[in-house]
Amino acid sequence: MISKSSKIYVAGHRGMVGSATVRKLQKEGFNNLIFKTSEELDLRNQSLVDQFIADETPEIIIDAAAIVGGIWANNEYPFKFLMDNMQIQNNLINAAVKNKVENFIFLGSSCIYPRDAQQPLKEDYLLTSSLESTNQWYALAKITGVKLIEAARKIYGYNYVSLMPTNLYGPNDNFDPMTSHVLPGMITKFHNAKVKNENTVTLWGDGTPLREFLNVNDLAKAIFFCINNNLHDSLYNVGSDDEVSIKQLAEIVKDIIGYQGKIIWDSSFPNGTPRKKLDSSRLNKLGWTTEIKLIDGIRSTYEFFLTQI
Ligand SMILES: NC(=O)c1ccc[n+]([C@@H]2O[C@H](COP(=O)([O-])OP(=O)(O)OC[C@H]3O[C@@H](n4cnc5c(N)ncnc54)[C@H](OP(=O)(O)O)[C@@H]3O)[C@@H](O)[C@H]2O)c1
Repeated sequence: MISKSSKIYVAGHRGMVGSATVRKLQKEGFNNLIFKTSEELDLRNQSLVDQFIADETPEIIIDAAAIVGGIWANNEYPFKFLMDNMQIQNNLINAAVKNKVENFIFLGSSCIYPRDAQQPLKEDYLLTSSLESTNQWYALAKITGVKLIEAARKIYGYNYVSLMPTNLYGPNDNFDPMTSHVLPGMITKFHNAKVKNENTVTLWGDGTPLREFLNVNDLAKAIFFCINNNLHDSLYNVGSDDEVSIKQLAEIVKDIIGYQGKIIWDSSFPNGTPRKKLDSSRLNKLGWTTEIKLIDGIRSTYEFFLTQI
């Protein structure tokens, strides 16, 4: 049984998901959390990871460590997105199994599903056809993690779960317009254009793709829900009902920031998957639901952004 003194290792605690998870656990009174920065423990190194897990023997591991980025970053660093992500997650899962850690939450992403799968995406659609080419490196790495979690659960009977969140945003996001995801990238672009009095903002693609957005604090609630319940499946989608086109998203962000100029869509950049909507009913049926509406979440994320510049 999990208690407030259970030792929980949150890997990637300085990142957007890791820090939201730590805030949630601390708010709920969990007082035995352990962390390491990537400088202190490089999760790509299996022997260091084995030693750390053997020394610390956590009851629960939450793996929020990964190399994360949008279309540009995936395209620019395919080897890193595939290799580092496989090493980080698989070293951790391997060390957890070797050291009989019974609870593991692995974070993947909705891009593990085939590009042309039926929408909304159900967990069962995994590996039914080809991946979207722009993020195949990252997706393939994450799929190996999903399968290791499934196999560890099957063979050892441990409470190992993979959570596949949709597009996330919130405090501690990466706001660098080159390497970020679409929403934080827009916040930076509109904000910079506003303060520099620029007449136009150029956004990538043609604005038609549909995307679902989940506030990272709602994901932290889902993680908390999963460590407190014995789940029967190994894979759960974590989405929201906040689905908008990239064009609509741009208008919302522009409005919240108060930018008065014009948006130019640069179609020489790829759009990515036309639609990516998760079916989260598997987790919803067990009792987890979202609380934060997209507009409120973007407002508070912009407030966070303003504290960082
Ligand atoms: N962002 C999204 O929209 C999104 C959507 C769906 C799923 N997810 C998933 O959620 C998880 C977390 O994403 P995020 O957005 O929170 O990422 P993030 O903000 O970039 O944080 C990633 C963390 O990973 C750690 N890390 C990277 N390489 C490492 C290494 N070699 N050794 C140890 N730690 C390492 C970093 O630690 P240091 O800070 O110590 O360097 C960093 O804190 C990922 O698995 C991602 O796939 C994210």
